[in-house]
Amino acid sequence: MAVDLLLGLQWGDEGKGKIVDVLTKNYDIIARFQGGPNAGHTLEFDGIKHVLHTIPSGIFHKNALNIVGNGVVIDPVIFKKELDNLNKFNLDLNAKLLISRKAHLILPTHRLLDAASEASKGKAKIGSTLKGIGPTYMDKTGRNGMRVGDLELDNWKDKYRALSDKHEAMIDFHNVDIQYDLNELETDFFDAVKELKQLTFIDSEEYLYQAQKSGKKILAEGAQGSLLDIDFGTYPYVTSSNTTAAGACTGLGVPPRNIGGVFGIFKAYTTRVGSGPFPTELFDEVGATMGRVGNEFGATTGRPRRCGWLDLVALKYAVQINGVSELMMMKADVLSGFKTIKVCTAYKYKGEKVSHLPYNIEAENVSPVYKEMKGWEKDLTKMTSADELPETLIEYINYLEAELEIPIKIVSVGPDRKQTIHR
Ligand code: GDP
Ligand code: IMO
Ligand code: MG
Repeated sequence: MAVDLLLGLQWGDEGKGKIVDVLTKNYDIIARFQGGPNAGHTLEFDGIKHVLHTIPSGIFHKNALNIVGNGVVIDPVIFKKELDNLNKFNLDLNAKLLISRKAHLILPTHRLLDAASEASKGKAKIGSTLKGIGPTYMDKTGRNGMRVGDLELDNWKDKYRALSDKHEAMIDFHNVDIQYDLNELETDFFDAVKELKQLTFIDSEEYLYQAQKSGKKILAEGAQGSLLDIDFGTYPYVTSSNTTAAGACTGLGVPPRNIGGVFGIFKAYTTRVGSGPFPTELFDEVGATMGRVGNEFGATTGRPRRCGWLDLVALKYAVQINGVSELMMMKADVLSGFKTIKVCTAYKYKGEKVSHLPYNIEAENVSPVYKEMKGWEKDLTKMTSADELPETLIEYINYLEAELEIPIKIVSVGPDRKQTIHR
């Protein structure tokens, strides 16, 4: 039985949480495969908005198990807050939420190191979410990390102490002014670890192997977006994991030949939060309108998201790297009311027109070449079927499908679960 993947194709916040929630009824298992609490996945239904950071977005459905895979990094303190929020909803989390022993732990000092590293970079900072993601993956690949499975050892606190002491020396090395009270942070951390240990830890690759063998339907939920991928994103302004399709294989232990559908999700325009190049970014009233209507504020940090037109050059690249088989277009409703809309079809790169993503897309090298299309006036947010969509939006969809050579199977017209049109 194949494992389907759902991935963001832009710089994150495409609406992955919403669509995973919509699709969960078709699956037995939802599994997160990378990233950590840098993610903020928003779900809306029955008039309530939920934001998940580490816990998979299938958690509200009775039919599905949710697995936090080995490729994820977990901050017990944030995880505890997520659990505390969910406890109000009677979800039987002990039975429905399983955690990989091989997932790495974010220590309080990882967060401090993230802050120290960013402060030392000055203007060149990544714009990290300051959740300790980079330092934790550095310890993972440097073979120094602590994993969830270590918490089952009697001497795990010795391991913790050795790593934390080393981090303190590294924080000093940065020579920046970071104020902290490690005792206080550790009290929270140890409390949170106690709560984490109440949950079920599993050998997730073995669990998922057996699940695949017995025909269970599995959906792997990505975090961040393809342009934040550590290898293929706009390095160094990226996150520290592989956000693209291959990341699901290493982040869950699923063999490549078992991957089925690859669902690529994108906004009808583009947003980015944090630093780094963004060729179609708008600094005018149009961009401000997208931000206002789309309520473009980060679900994790509350920072305003930068907004701009859809970048087809970058989107084609993401479709290519991931091998996308179906597309989902989000937030079409946000573009209602623009007389014309633009799509970036190529870049002017060092004076020449290119239609692939060059090595460096900083503004001094790249400027967008646009195609202008007619916009649509109608409010889409109450529409429930594809027949109702305005003609000019259908033209936009047809154009994108022809350019990307992949069908757009879902058009999302609002944040609620119900505001989802299947085609
Ligand atoms: P994720 O990180 O990919 O899960 O996306 P986020 O939750 O960070 O950001 C997406 C935001 O857009 C959230 O506030 C969602 O509630 C909202 N959203 C999702 N789909 C739509 C849509 O079709 N229309 C509108 N207006 N909002 C949407
Ligand atoms: P979801 O899953 C949008 C961005 C940060 C920063 C860069 C590195 O909600 O789509 P990090 O904390 O990972 O070291 O930050 O990546 N970033 C995200 N942007 N959505 C996310 O997740 C993001 N996770 C990280 O803003 O630019
Ligand atoms: Mg998000």
